[in-house]
Amino acid sequence: MKIIAAPGRPLNGSVSLPGDKSISHRAALFAALSVGESQINNFLVAGVTKVMLRALRMLGVPWDLVGTTLKVQGRGLPRNHHSTVPVLLDCGNSGTSMRLLAGALSALGLPAILDGSAGLRSRPMKRIVEPLQVMGVSIQASPGYTAPLNLAGRASNRKLLPLEYNLPVASAQVKSCLLLAALDADGTTTLREPGPSRDHTERMLHAMGVAIAKETKSIPGDQVCQYETRLTPPNPPELAPLSLDIPGDISSASFLIVAALITPGSSITLQGVGLNPTRTGLLDALQSMGADIQISNLTESHGEPIGDLLVRYGPLRSTQISGSLVVRMIDEFPAFAVAAANAQGRSVVSQAAELRHKESDRISDLCGELLRLGVDVEETADGFAINGGEILKGGEVDPHADHRLAMALAVAGLAAQEPVVIQDAGIIAESYPKFGSSLRDLGVDIRSL
Ligand code: S3P
Repeated sequence: MKIIAAPGRPLNGSVSLPGDKSISHRAALFAALSVGESQINNFLVAGVTKVMLRALRMLGVPWDLVGTTLKVQGRGLPRNHHSTVPVLLDCGNSGTSMRLLAGALSALGLPAILDGSAGLRSRPMKRIVEPLQVMGVSIQASPGYTAPLNLAGRASNRKLLPLEYNLPVASAQVKSCLLLAALDADGTTTLREPGPSRDHTERMLHAMGVAIAKETKSIPGDQVCQYETRLTPPNPPELAPLSLDIPGDISSASFLIVAALITPGSSITLQGVGLNPTRTGLLDALQSMGADIQISNLTESHGEPIGDLLVRYGPLRSTQISGSLVVRMIDEFPAFAVAAANAQGRSVVSQAAELRHKESDRISDLCGELLRLGVDVEETADGFAINGGEILKGGEVDPHADHRLAMALAVAGLAAQEPVVIQDAGIIAESYPKFGSSLRDLGVDIRSL
């Protein structure tokens, strides 16, 4: 499927966002590990979360999804199973499913093979395999430390070793994988990260009764902080079930925000957006560019901050992104790049080499497609620079099987001279199936071809 996004129409009105992808993944999986029935409202029903639900079904966890309400019958952390036959779990394109399931299955001691699409098979797994092996998990990756991952079972009387580990790169997926494995370790696990990766796992496990602590430590003489998380396994090993409303996904919201900021005459309200400070880097970046974004109705829902965003069109100026801001907007660079292309001056992103390991190489593939639209963009080893302010050309672009690249390129079309056509746009349904209809509700001319 191709979509075509045409320039010229302002965005007006109000929409609410689908449930947050990261929180939806965690809610489904953690509910399965708890004891009792969980009810999860505003669950994200999309390609990547369906993968997680399918995996849970394969593992024998009963769940029921009506609309966006998910009920899960949790069976606890059963360590008295006798399964030796590995279950094959297809994680599709979902790195979060693969890494979180690897951690949970390590805690459960269940044998499994975790596999996925060609895209997922090319993503780095050494970052979870090595520390899990240190904990005593019998896990093997394929050559090059990639999926499929092979997990052997573990006798129910053998606990994992607690881990003390400095993550080389700040990553919530790696941290969450290791924290899940640590639920069945024989003592406290301590993880340290060089940046503030998203902390939904910590917040949710804490709400489920797990002793989990976070600390930010400044290192004397150094500019950077260390972000430490400690988890002590529950005793008895039981997690309380969940009852929660998932906040709107700020990463999905980022496309609507940038669309409104670059389209003259726009004024939109986004309701119930998750505003966890580990996720709001893009708002900070855009505000430093002069964006008119107002937050109202700020409140907390089940341990996660939420609020409404009022976003209005206005001129943008360039900015610089590096350091901990990169981690706090790690999924938002495709949307950010479109804002930077429409801002006056030179915007520079650095210390962001991790972007090369997302659903696509979000440095080279993003720069390549923006170049096709006439953006003055330069790729660097760990980021990119954009000289903004030129009117973009229209044309046909390739999202490289990356849902966020596809959405960002569609938004770029709203401020181009001619329509932008996105090839293979069906990939958008991986995280935001209603992207097109949300934009249409706000008045945008976006159609399937
Ligand atoms: C995610 C964490 C991020 C993000 C991904 C979802 C999560 O990855 O890019 O889309 O749910 O934990 P890293 O934390 O590994 O960078």
